[in-house]
Amino acid sequence: MTLTDTKQLTDTLRQKPRIRILFVCLGNICRSPAAQGIMQSLVDARGLSGRFRLDSCGFYGGHAGDLPDRRMRIHAARRDYRLDHRSRQIRPWDFDDFDLIIGMDDSNIYDLLEAAPSPEAQKKVARMTDFCRAYTCHTAVPDPYYEGASGFELVLDLLEDACAGLLDALTD
Ligand code: 4NP
Repeated sequence: MTLTDTKQLTDTLRQKPRIRILFVCLGNICRSPAAQGIMQSLVDARGLSGRFRLDSCGFYGGHAGDLPDRRMRIHAARRDYRLDHRSRQIRPWDFDDFDLIIGMDDSNIYDLLEAAPSPEAQKKVARMTDFCRAYTCHTAVPDPYYEGASGFELVLDLLEDACAGLLDALTD
């Protein structure tokens, strides 16, 4: 199973008046809520909040209802991102409710392609790092859960780069 060409996907979505994006990781307490928060900040700063619906979720439901990991919130707050998403597990109808479903690593991408109910739904799946313009040697946003501060900082660096690239791909 391979991903649809990312440029083809964003070129098609750019025509839509409203774009619904779901960020996906494993626990939905570190990477994907940070991606959602960073993207929301960029969208708000460009006055485009009406054009985007953003959400995030995870494959593991064990943190459902929780705020993002405290370490993630602290590192994000230092960059002026307030992360207040509540963790939730992915749902079958997410593939209908969203236009673009973005995974953080190989495992997320594999699981998304497996969970997609149709070939059309599979075409909505993209890889976060494919939108990076500075950190182009990274092919995944690595799970920081068992890492130290540098792991959380790397996640934020990658996500800031990727979200800026994503927003430009959908609006320029
Ligand atoms: P995330 O990080 O997928 O970026 O939210 C993780 C958080 C929790 C767990 C795994 C990854 N966990 O197994 O509890």
